[in-house]
Amino acid sequence: MTNKELKQARDKHVPRGPFNVTGLFAAKALNATITDVEGNDYIDFAGGIGVMAVGHCHPKVVAATQDQSALFSHTCFHVVMYEPYVEVARRMNEAAPGDFEKKTLLLNSGAEAVENAVKIARYATGRDAVIAFEDAFHGRTLMTMSLTSKTMPYKKGFGPFAPEIYRMPYAYCYRCPLALEYPGCGVACADLLTNAFKNYVGADEVAAVIAEPVLGEGGFVVPPKEYFPKVKKICEDNGIVFIVDEIQSGFGRTGKIFAIEHWGVAPDLITSAKSLAAGYPLSAVVGRAELMDAPHVGGLGGTYGGNPVSCRAALAVFDIIEEEGLLARADVIGARIRQTFETLAAELEVVGDVRGLGAMVALELVTDRTAKTPAGDLTRALVARAVEKGVIMISAGTYGNVIRPLMPLTIDDATLDRGLAIVAESLREVTSEAGLA
Ligand SMILES: Cc1ncc(COP(=O)(O)O)c(C=O)c1O
Repeated sequence: MTNKELKQARDKHVPRGPFNVTGLFAAKALNATITDVEGNDYIDFAGGIGVMAVGHCHPKVVAATQDQSALFSHTCFHVVMYEPYVEVARRMNEAAPGDFEKKTLLLNSGAEAVENAVKIARYATGRDAVIAFEDAFHGRTLMTMSLTSKTMPYKKGFGPFAPEIYRMPYAYCYRCPLALEYPGCGVACADLLTNAFKNYVGADEVAAVIAEPVLGEGGFVVPPKEYFPKVKKICEDNGIVFIVDEIQSGFGRTGKIFAIEHWGVAPDLITSAKSLAAGYPLSAVVGRAELMDAPHVGGLGGTYGGNPVSCRAALAVFDIIEEEGLLARADVIGARIRQTFETLAAELEVVGDVRGLGAMVALELVTDRTAKTPAGDLTRALVARAVEKGVIMISAGTYGNVIRPLMPLTIDDATLDRGLAIVAESLREVTSEAGLA
């Protein structure tokens, strides 16, 4: 069947709610290339939304998952345990920052990891409130949708939301919530947390503060180096669990296993998913052993959590990142993306900001550099044009005006450069067509 025929069937049988960036249907994928059902090849700059750090169908992932599927695909960890679960936990505990004893709980999706991190923090502290940030994305379940900031499309019509969630501005320097400038600002945005204790919720009622170290859906915003040490200190001083959501920023994307390592901060709990298991459903909460052990026996878990096939994929991912030097590779990829984006910034007024960490480098588009008016339509046109020319990529940002490349870290230089050239050419074209050049 063609893409068009399949799309008609999709529209008939699948609700419109799940959005589709492209009208393409995949037939197969290898490393950073996706081939559609009509035999067309596309360079994959989306990686299934930051999931395929080790590339599509990496031979080690294929071998490990095929092997495990033939042994057993499910016993339920609560009924009959298996080694791959324990081994993933051991490696997560080893990889997570912090010179203290850690434990890891495995689940299915990113949202489920966030749900469980909040459960653990509440249980351990005996407190209810959670402080989250503007521009944050934490998932689509009730708790995680409530923690998520952006209303459309994530929250509109889906209330009422979970109670006891409070929100403060994030360190979004390009659009500073305090209209200040770094470094003169003294990272005053972090002190807003102390202010929140006075104006919104008492510190002794707060179970957790949850933050993405680099915003994913929020558009790859990277807070200054002083920000997380300050936030962590405020949490520590007030007995609040500091949860870092590394679901998008983790597993090599920023040149470290966990992005928060760049700030030299050891969170109490970390949530992980996406590139952890190369597309197999697996997520994790890793953190301080005494917090992780707080909930009673039977208080945590789920039928499929830590599926053995997914665990074997994750073990392969740990090996691949190490053996293929993907942390260093993330920095090289990031430098090449940055070079392309900065060239575009020098050339086109519509480029408002280029920012990032490791391979998480974003381009924020505006119709007016001074007013920083978000160029959402231009961004949508750019994504559509890039797909027409053979590059699959996705946008982000509260205003939908940010391009966020999430290609496999295993992408070769020639494919990367070809993809970046197409993105650049597409931006030049749509900018000119929109009369913004
Ligand atoms: C930072 C962050 N947290 C949580 C989630 C939710 O993960 P999932 O879609 O696997 O539930 C996402 C997904 O994009 C994410 O980027």
